Amino acid sequence: MVEVIKIEDERLKVILSYPIFKEEFYNEVLRELREMGINELISRGRVNIGKINVIGKGCTSIVVQGLRNNNIIALKILRVDSNRESVSREGRILSIVNREGIGPKLIDYKNKVIAMEYIEGEYISNWLRREQDNLKMRMIIKDLLEQCYKLDLLGIFHKELSNPKTHIIIRNEEKPVIIDFETISLESKNSNLSSIIGYLFFSNSKILEKIIKWDSIKLRELVREYKKTRSNYNEILRFLGL
Ligand SMILES: Nc1ncnc2c1ncn2[C@@H]1O[C@H](COP(=O)(O)OP(=O)(O)O)[C@@H](O)[C@H]1O
Ligand SMILES: [Mg+2]
Repeated sequence: MVEVIKIEDERLKVILSYPIFKEEFYNEVLRELREMGINELISRGRVNIGKINVIGKGCTSIVVQGLRNNNIIALKILRVDSNRESVSREGRILSIVNREGIGPKLIDYKNKVIAMEYIEGEYISNWLRREQDNLKMRMIIKDLLEQCYKLDLLGIFHKELSNPKTHIIIRNEEKPVIIDFETISLESKNSNLSSIIGYLFFSNSKILEKIIKWDSIKLRELVREYKKTRSNYNEILRFLGL
């Protein structure tokens, strides 16, 4: 059941201060939500916490839908037991990657809450396993490689892209959106592009072989070269025919 609930409603205590109730923490979250112009949350999503449904539960946060100026948005709320004091680092990184058109659009962030665009769609792992239009699939994959390359140029390394499971959402079967900039590292020598190529062209090669032809040994070589020099991105695209 979908229900719009005022943020002060007692029933929301379980998610606003999760997994244990702390008065001070709860009051801070409430204050931040009000300051951001959010007065209602929506109980909807595949994860249940008590009687409330949310969209996601990670190690550091609870993600739930909220209403702001009558728009549905996503709220990432810090967990009481998170190893972080604040979500502000993630908020700052989101604002940087947004400039390159990457990630859900940031609306606002405080200490305990990030307000951002809600991404409706399908996790990449499910999407890959579905029958679909080849041309569209190639476009989405190219778009994803492009975003990873841009992140590499920014020196922002997203640690989960070699096995993105729930961290890439394909919106409207059209646009790949990378989410969760919580566990990233900055000024990293690691490469997002090689992570995603590993996931797509090595871990899931059976699926992509139907629409893209490539030689694994040559691809490995190109990726190795890329890791060293970051100079052959276009060559990799050409090699994959993208
Ligand atoms: N902007 C968003 N739009 C839609 N779903 C989201 C959004 N942000 C997070 N989610 C969902 O919530 C889950 C947990 O979010 P995530 O950012 O990974 O939290 P954590 O940092 O705690 O791992 C994600 O796997 C995804 O399903
Ligand atoms: Mg996560």
